[in-house]
Amino acid sequence: MNTEFQGKNIVLIGFMGAGKTSLGKTVSKMLGIPYLDTDNLIEDAEGMTVSEIFARKGEAYFRQKETALLGDLSKREGSYVLSVGGGLPLREENRPLLHETGCVIYLKVGIDTLQRRLEKDTKRPLLHQGEGTLREKISRILKAREPLYMEAADVVIVNDHKPFRLAAQEIADLYCASAEG
Ligand code: S3P
Repeated sequence: MNTEFQGKNIVLIGFMGAGKTSLGKTVSKMLGIPYLDTDNLIEDAEGMTVSEIFARKGEAYFRQKETALLGDLSKREGSYVLSVGGGLPLREENRPLLHETGCVIYLKVGIDTLQRRLEKDTKRPLLHQGEGTLREKISRILKAREPLYMEAADVVIVNDHKPFRLAAQEIADLYCASAEG
């Protein structure tokens, strides 16, 4: 794994329900820097929710928007905390862009925790299509993605049973380390 931090921003990657948004918002407050979220930015630009974009324009369209947005964000001035959609690191061209954008932190969460957190989800189209139970879907998608998350990550934080504040502090400390380094 690459442990050389290449930027000043914090970039959170990981599966749906890994805690990217809640931790990202908290860390941005702790550090006093803005919080950005690719899903929110795409929703604002398109005037639709992610589910609506998937339904009306298709997943491929959404993935193009993610890549274009990440290209813009990688050039943005000033420090920020960025959460990216769970599928963004899958595109090969996005992984170097993630590294250019900042210190890439993979929030790694096990299937039991993911299943619990995603049980009542209504906003993630990938969990509401295809065959099988929720657990089977999570398991299938996670298995395919895990190596790519690992490949994209500078740092892995296991976010299963860790107290929220502790995980947030770990991430904030990394920002300080990457800013100093
Ligand atoms: C997706 C994750 C979602 C969102 C879209 C697709 C994925 O974001 O981008 O529903 O492919 O894992 P979160 O990871 O913030 O839920």
